[in-house]
Amino acid sequence: MTITIKDEQGIQGMRTAGRLAAEVLDHLTPFIKPGITTREIDRIASEVMKKQGSTSATLGYQPAGYPPYPASLCTSVNNVVCHGIPNDKPLKKGDIVNVDVTVIKDGWYGDTSRMFIVGEASIAAKRLVAITYEAMWHGIVQVKPGVRLGDIGWSIQKFAESQGFTVVREFCGHGIGRNFHEEPQVLHYGKPGTLEELVPGMTFTIEPMINAGRRDVKEFGNDGWTIVTKDHSLSAQWEHTVLVTETGYEVMTLSAGSPPPPAFVKG
Ligand code: MF3
Ligand code: CO
Ligand code: CO
Repeated sequence: MTITIKDEQGIQGMRTAGRLAAEVLDHLTPFIKPGITTREIDRIASEVMKKQGSTSATLGYQPAGYPPYPASLCTSVNNVVCHGIPNDKPLKKGDIVNVDVTVIKDGWYGDTSRMFIVGEASIAAKRLVAITYEAMWHGIVQVKPGVRLGDIGWSIQKFAESQGFTVVREFCGHGIGRNFHEEPQVLHYGKPGTLEELVPGMTFTIEPMINAGRRDVKEFGNDGWTIVTKDHSLSAQWEHTVLVTETGYEVMTLSAGSPPPPAFVKG
């Protein structure tokens, strides 16, 4: 397998899928309050996808060695790093939750996630969420032809660690297109000037998982999916799908409800 380069038609398909994934998150936003269960969030999302004429990429998703993923999105609460499965436990004030949505529209995939603060959170939790958002954008603004994947990883790692946080190593961003997970792997740590050089038409996700404590993770329970921090510390994640353009980048997973980029992002 090699990295796929999208033509104009593919880019259009990716733009639509990306926007729809983001719009699922927009629809969910007003519901993410104390008392709602992540299963209800999942149900609302599946209704929105139905209305959109999109389908969930995660429902039944089964990479080698995994059981089929049982839900239309992932909900990762507090010390859950990623791939949390919606359940019947109500969210409570002070929780932080990542909601990760991947839709398929006309064969194209759009993948994006946001953090939500349930009610009101501690200063420490809010800071982790905000710094993780900035860390994602430190990676995004690197994107332009000639830059290497190691430059993206390094910029995320350097920023996150400068803030006293750690970068999860076991999961990474990924190429995306007519498949959920394509080449290349987009690590959120690394060395400048290393790895694959970016070329216009590449599409991939940037989705750093940042921990408040140590970077180590482990599987939780026996559902085959849920990943938690080994030290039980909080973890946050944001995700966008991006396109490499002739001059830089285009974020493909924006919608009316996307939070604005941090101040250091120009244009
Ligand atoms: N959406 C996740 C990603 O960003 C993958 C979730 S796979 C699932 O790559 F099966 F856990 F849903
Ligand atoms: Co992804
Ligand atoms: Co995702």
